[in-house]
Amino acid sequence: MSSTATSAPSGAPITVPGIAGSKVRRGAEPLVMVTAYDAPGARIASEAGVDLILVGDSVAMVVLGYDDTLQVTVDDIAHHTAAVARAKPRPLIVADLPWMSYHVSAEDTVRNAAQLIRAGAEAVKLEGGRKRLPMVEALVDAEIPVMGHLGLTPQSVHAMGGFKVQAKSSDAAMALVADAKALAHAGCFAIVLEGVPSEVASLVTAAVDVPIIGIGAGPDVDGQVLVYHDVLGIEDRIAPKFVRRYADLKAASVAAIAAYAGDVRARAFPGPSESYHLSAEVAETLGLYGRPA
Ligand code: KIV
Repeated sequence: MSSTATSAPSGAPITVPGIAGSKVRRGAEPLVMVTAYDAPGARIASEAGVDLILVGDSVAMVVLGYDDTLQVTVDDIAHHTAAVARAKPRPLIVADLPWMSYHVSAEDTVRNAAQLIRAGAEAVKLEGGRKRLPMVEALVDAEIPVMGHLGLTPQSVHAMGGFKVQAKSSDAAMALVADAKALAHAGCFAIVLEGVPSEVASLVTAAVDVPIIGIGAGPDVDGQVLVYHDVLGIEDRIAPKFVRRYADLKAASVAAIAAYAGDVRARAFPGPSESYHLSAEVAETLGLYGRPA
């Protein structure tokens, strides 16, 4: 059974309406989202056939070397979004609204989101539930598609006391369901649900008509998202329980660069075929003819 998103004609860009209708309980295939932060990453994600690319504020941690996501600005996300968009990928491009870009006023939120749309995003994502409704409504009003993000919201790292699994009590689970319903009602076309027990994710997924895209939320959702550097094993320092690594590119990259360094030091690189050469005539004029290569 093919999903609404991926049943778009082959090669046709994936759109917000295609994603919005993609519920597993209605027979859709689970949606696949992966982060990407640059043009090569976007090309790889697109050729791999994913449905959505998230230009996540995780760029702060996996690319820019920060310990949390709070350090990146709208300019940073716009810079990475533009790089992703230049690759013209087929998946829908969603850009994260970074911390403090949607917390002050609805006007600020729309202006900041517009910068990301002008950089090439086709939708934006923001974290939080009912307290974000005025911002979500303002964005929808400005024709900017919005993805919600509930559960473990990394921009609340200090308020949560760390990156901790959320909604473990029945009250918290019910509050999460209410948040998801409110976001969907306000016009979010999809919601990321991060770091919650599978049973709670299943409840949330059943409660709303828009797709729930999980990360650390178990299998009973409408799709999955992972961070590019985690999937490919480029980030090997932290291994969250919910990550499955499909490659070990960090080890492969270290081995490749070490082999290059070894060849340079052994004078085995570059070889004749990797060097430019004068014609025999010019070499002879310069008195170089016959010198050892
Ligand atoms: O920034 C990001 O990578 C995210 C995902 C964890 C959903 O928000």
